[in-house]
Amino acid sequence: MQQPANYQRAEAEQAGVGGEAGTRERAGGLRDFEPEIEERPQGNVSCPNPPEEDKLYEELDEFIDGLADQDGVLIRVLHFAQNLFGYLPRQVQIHIAKRLGKSLAEVYGVVSFYHYFSTEPKAKHTVEVCMGTACYVKGASGIINELEKELGISPGQITKDQKFGLTVSRCIGACGLAPVMVVGDLIKGRLEPEMVEDILKQYKGQG
Ligand code: FES
Repeated sequence: MQQPANYQRAEAEQAGVGGEAGTRERAGGLRDFEPEIEERPQGNVSCPNPPEEDKLYEELDEFIDGLADQDGVLIRVLHFAQNLFGYLPRQVQIHIAKRLGKSLAEVYGVVSFYHYFSTEPKAKHTVEVCMGTACYVKGASGIINELEKELGISPGQITKDQKFGLTVSRCIGACGLAPVMVVGDLIKGRLEPEMVEDILKQYKGQG
């Protein structure tokens, strides 16, 4: 059975093939591999941590405290943290590792294994344009051009305010509505480039 790409990558790293982990494995064995854990910056008088961020860490700590002595809580904690922070930056992973008494390598291993977890900021609204055959033939390129113009980004990027992300995908199984795009959970079909501005307006006002 074909393994997921990230699973294959994890296997490759464990085998010492490629990647930073692989390099260290060759030097000293994976068991010895332990990325340095840095303390979360506490800020100082001239450059304090943003209060909102401290509040998020407090909330995360409360959640972790509520799980005390339960087994297998790492995924639940990561899930909670991603909902809280929007993604799982390195500092959050370090914090979780320390709080759960785990290695950063273990936490990172889980984060990188599951597609659901992200180490990069995510856009509030992801706009996904289908570039499958039916949509392509019916003008999906024109839809992408219009989105690029409206949002000022290319596929694979997110806007500076992190409100919109633009991606392209293969057939999403709604060929009868081609060309289609998906915004959040909603499919928008039979699109014309002129419709793009109005559709985005509905989301620009949110949050
Ligand atoms: S090709 Fe776009 S939905 Fe099938």
